[in-house]
Amino acid sequence: MPDNRMHIALFGPPGAGKSTQSKFLLKRWPIVSLSTGKMLREEAAAGTELGLKVRELLGRGELVDDETMIATIRKWLENLPPDKGFLLDGFPRTIPQAEALDEILNELGRPLTGVVNLKLSVSEAVYRLGGRRICYGAGPEEIIHINDEEAVDRCLARGGLLVQRADDLPNVIVKRLNVYEGETEPLLAYYRPHNIVLTVDASGDPEAVAQRIVFGFEKK
Ligand code: AP5
Repeated sequence: MPDNRMHIALFGPPGAGKSTQSKFLLKRWPIVSLSTGKMLREEAAAGTELGLKVRELLGRGELVDDETMIATIRKWLENLPPDKGFLLDGFPRTIPQAEALDEILNELGRPLTGVVNLKLSVSEAVYRLGGRRICYGAGPEEIIHINDEEAVDRCLARGGLLVQRADDLPNVIVKRLNVYEGETEPLLAYYRPHNIVLTVDASGDPEAVAQRIVFGFEKK
């Protein structure tokens, strides 16, 4: 598939590796990406109007309202360079978001060409999220697992702080997984008739997962 026709949505439960895979795929293909979760966290940290509005929702693991998310994604898509493909990490998450996305992309003449469905067991997702820490304040941020002693020592030796995301607390992880099951997983049935869903085993080495995705697209 030509790179500028890569119009991809990364889909999967919290912890499936959407952001991790997004980084790998950006190195592989000349595409641009938007992580709605990262964008919302940055707005919350900066205390913008949007950030103040969504701060509590993020900490509770609830979704931001469709109207806000659709307006945000519309603005981003309308400003995309026409010669680049794109990857959406974390959008759409509800049926109204998926319907609006189809409408916007049809208006722009750039329909989705792939939905990557990252499949991961609940127990592995809970392990990854429960142990996730961000090594902060010692050069570029690094995401590590609390059980990775070497990475923990390296971070502390550099004077870094180990920070846990507010939505990675155990009760919020459960809430996020429930929200995924109730509101986001039904999107798979929505996209199935479009014939663009690529289901990928998201367990194991991140690079191996990326290879599975690339293989799935490049044989199309
Ligand atoms: P968002 O940040 O998108 O959270 P999420 O979907 O819950 O996803 P995560 O970032 O936790 O997981 P991921 O699948 O990206 O995996 P990652 O690569 O990070 O959204 C946050 C919040 O914003 C939402 O809860 C909601 O409130 C709001 N929001 C966002 N979009 C919205 C929308 N469209 N509508 C409404 N609200 C919205 O990896 C997770 C961990 O696992 C990391 O520690 C990583 O290092 C590790 N890991 C990844 N891959 C592997 C691997 N292969 N092996 C071992 N460890 C791995």
